[in-house]
Amino acid sequence: MSKNDHSIQISEIFEEDLVGEQVSLRGWVYRKRSSGNLVFLIVRDGTGMIQTVIHKDNVSEKTFEEGDRISIESSLKMSGVVREDKRAPEGYEISVNDLEIVGLAKPFPITKDQSTSFLLDQRHLWLRSRKLRTIMIIRNQVFVAAREWFKKGGWIEVQAPMFVSAACEGGATLFELNYFENQKAYLTQSSQLYLEALIQAFEKVFTIAPSFRAEKSRTRRHLTEFWHLEVEAAWSDLENIVKVQEELVSYIAQKVSKRMANELKFLGRDPEAIYQVIPPFERVSYDDAIEILQEKKIDVQWGDDLGTIEEKTLTMDYDKPIFIYNYPKQIKAFYHYPDPERPEIVKCDDMLAPEGYGEIIGGGQRIHDLDVLLQRLDEEGLNIEDYQWYIDLRRYGTIPHSGFGLGIERLIAWICKLDHIRDACAFPRTTTRLYP
Ligand code: 4AD
Ligand code: MG
Repeated sequence: MSKNDHSIQISEIFEEDLVGEQVSLRGWVYRKRSSGNLVFLIVRDGTGMIQTVIHKDNVSEKTFEEGDRISIESSLKMSGVVREDKRAPEGYEISVNDLEIVGLAKPFPITKDQSTSFLLDQRHLWLRSRKLRTIMIIRNQVFVAAREWFKKGGWIEVQAPMFVSAACEGGATLFELNYFENQKAYLTQSSQLYLEALIQAFEKVFTIAPSFRAEKSRTRRHLTEFWHLEVEAAWSDLENIVKVQEELVSYIAQKVSKRMANELKFLGRDPEAIYQVIPPFERVSYDDAIEILQEKKIDVQWGDDLGTIEEKTLTMDYDKPIFIYNYPKQIKAFYHYPDPERPEIVKCDDMLAPEGYGEIIGGGQRIHDLDVLLQRLDEEGLNIEDYQWYIDLRRYGTIPHSGFGLGIERLIAWICKLDHIRDACAFPRTTTRLYP
């Protein structure tokens, strides 16, 4: 490489005027085409892609040979001059004068027309594809925007343990493991119970962490390990926390829509559809939801949980998320606050994403009264000893409070208009997939 090279990342070519300049870059070969004296390489780095051309007459014999033998997904260093070229896909091209192969790739296993399961086995390599890179860069923006929103509002980011000793969301989906001296431990289903302890120190907290569910259901929206954005707020009731949910989701949607417009378009999602996700979102009581479903000839009774079909039916005609609130007590976890006027329902909400995507948030007000909590634990047949620390929170300075959990991959699947939740994360974990 010559000493005066301007070392760049590919995105700089599109952001700055580098036409006529000598630049050097590092990356991978995305596509390759040769004809006689010319080798065209589309080179990709962490920021973008650019067409490069090696002309036999412009380079040393050795450099041309390297260009000729380099294979798809080999890593390389190269330098050359930036040219404007209307025929190049991005409007620019690099006329190469030096090239060094860093890692010559074996024949790349991913070619056209391969099965989904093959691609999932090759996930570690498939992540270099345009589709997955686009989704992952949008995913990054979801994390960035969420943290921005919390920072503006003065929320404190906290962390809870992943090894836990008791269930938050019922025994059916617990992953159990051995934890020394024959003690049982579980992988956390939700950080909520720990956030409830932390609000008594910080009032407004959030965490972004994995949650685990031994979910037997093989659907397009269940993972066994997912990223969970959870929020808990002191001095807060159901209506307060519903507002937090719609403002947060709206902020993320708007920022992602603006910052990732081209990426969304590439995935077939109109950024405008996401940009118009502005509060208020429609609020539908569970009672009304059941009536709506029955009118649409769905076979549900009051007291049934809402599954994929029910949620799809309820959200099909909306272009913004909606809330379903006040579900029957018997289909929700023990910690939800029973309505004092109607003890058969609890003050909770689910946010359902539009277009049939369904539940992306579960939340609500928590029981803050000691006796009510003890009664609910008993009704659910839970072992009081396992929850002593959680019960303590009602013994020492209890307060009304509420919170929620947002499934990051569910949010991304909706924003990116994906067919399946597994493409919303880099290395999906499902009932049938633990590799790579
Ligand atoms: O509705 P869930 O089970 O609620 C809770 O865990 C509460 N403790 C959260 C809280 O209030 N802090 O889960 C919350 C969200 C769901 O709405 C969904 O988006 C996501 O977590 N989720 C899953 N995402 C992918 N795969 C799974 N198996 C999921 N289970 C839940
Ligand atoms: Mg739920």
